[in-house]
Amino acid sequence: MSQSENIFIQFNDQMVAAKHGQTILQAARQNGIQIPTLCDFPGLPPHGSCRLCVVEIEGKPNTPTACTTPVEDGMVISTHSPKVVALRRELLQRGYALQLLDVKPIDPCYANERSVVVDITDQASLTAALRGCDAVVHLAACTTDAPWPEHVKLSIEGSISLFDAAREAGVMRVVYASSHHVVGLHPRAPNGPRLGATVQVRPDSRYAVGKAFGESIGAMYAGKYGMQVLAIRIGNVNTRPIDRRRMGNWLSWRDLGLPVAH
Ligand code: FES
Repeated sequence: MSQSENIFIQFNDQMVAAKHGQTILQAARQNGIQIPTLCDFPGLPPHGSCRLCVVEIEGKPNTPTACTTPVEDGMVISTHSPKVVALRRELLQRGYALQLLDVKPIDPCYANERSVVVDITDQASLTAALRGCDAVVHLAACTTDAPWPEHVKLSIEGSISLFDAAREAGVMRVVYASSHHVVGLHPRAPNGPRLGATVQVRPDSRYAVGKAFGESIGAMYAGKYGMQVLAIRIGNVNTRPIDRRRMGNWLSWRDLGLPVAH
């Protein structure tokens, strides 16, 4: 049978077409059927490690992972049977529980997530929300060249509030989402030398000045209070480099996720 030939499989009570050689997860996505995933990144070979994408297949005794199992003609697949839902819950319980902090409720949340509405500049509420956490991933900022007052509020006051709240709540690990814009005014030369982590800060925008401040305050809390702070100068995050220019600052989803998770 050729790779492009259609076969027919059943997801829950829905009969769909799939291509020979596809995985169950690929066929599900192609047909708009949701299967939760964690370690799967589109464009990269399947990892098969989180097991969150387990499914049941009629006539098979085990629960294989959808991201690594190829479809077969006539397969009958349950994506949300009581057995696989219970299995996913158990897997999530063994993993991280996430508190998602934002000024608006986050909906929907996965089973291991909880939405907490809090303003980053409200230090008392932030401290309360962080108590009991092992680590914070600090992503809040203005993402555009907004006027100075917005950057001062979110990037400067917000970072002060976040680091103070983390210290007060006893959370000694902070991952800070910085940006390549912090060194964006260094001249770019085709085939020129790479910019390392120790190169002088040369912010290219108001946004970048805010990010440079976050790196600075993180360095102070690490040096003065013994916090473990990781500032990542995030470039263009994507499955693969979009073009030649963004090849130089490309960061894959997997490479971004690894230091955050460990
Ligand atoms: S998505 Fe992690 S094992 Fe399939």
